[in-house]
Amino acid sequence: MPGNNGRPLIAPSILSADFARLADAAAAVDDADWLHVDVMDAHFVPNLTIGLPVVESLKAHTDLPMDCHLMIENPDRWAHRYAEAGAYNVTFHAEATEDPVGVARDIRAAGAKAGLGIKPQTPIEQYFEILHELDTLLVMSVDPGFGGQSFIPAVLSKVRAARRFIDSNELTILVEIDGGINNDTVEQAAEAGVDCFVAGTAVYHADDPSAAVERLRRQAASASARLRQ
Ligand code: DX5
Ligand code: ZN
Repeated sequence: MPGNNGRPLIAPSILSADFARLADAAAAVDDADWLHVDVMDAHFVPNLTIGLPVVESLKAHTDLPMDCHLMIENPDRWAHRYAEAGAYNVTFHAEATEDPVGVARDIRAAGAKAGLGIKPQTPIEQYFEILHELDTLLVMSVDPGFGGQSFIPAVLSKVRAARRFIDSNELTILVEIDGGINNDTVEQAAEAGVDCFVAGTAVYHADDPSAAVERLRRQAASASARLRQ
């Protein structure tokens, strides 16, 4: 049984928005569930985006819960700062730290939910034993670094394995998917057991971002209902 009472969450990624108008980008999706904020440091990934000052500023311009996705080295040092800046959920990458439990505890102590991100090539089973320390598990369905890439269907086996483990152990952690989610891929992700769907291109390159959110939500909801039958 997926978390959040089976109601899918949609998290538009502002990576695909106009960086000079981020407050407007947030306002354009005010009916979304979370606002996904991709933080990249040009070291963990070959791209550079936004950091703490922008998150702090954005917080003053939106009521949407901010879902900060840290694609950075040394989350041990930085992750809790995003919680202090007002993020609702702070996801750091498993590949970037030797102490994921310590980072998760720091984030929670600073008042945010803690998420663990997993790159497409990273096996997931090794992290099952620490899932109780986390609130979200972000399965990347593209190689992190850029928007607009194609969905990698092979990661769905990881989603299914995580879903089975979470349900059989009655954990409350949400499974999030990130990369290449659009009207053609959202249903297969929902059927595999995803709770929260990040979408950048599919939302911000649409004529009507708000309508795009609603359509993704409807598709995800009917596909998750099939999973629960
Ligand atoms: C990629 C980012 C994603 C990205 C998704 O590294 O983590 O959040 O914005 O963009 P789309 O939906 O275009 O694949
Ligand atoms: Zn992301």
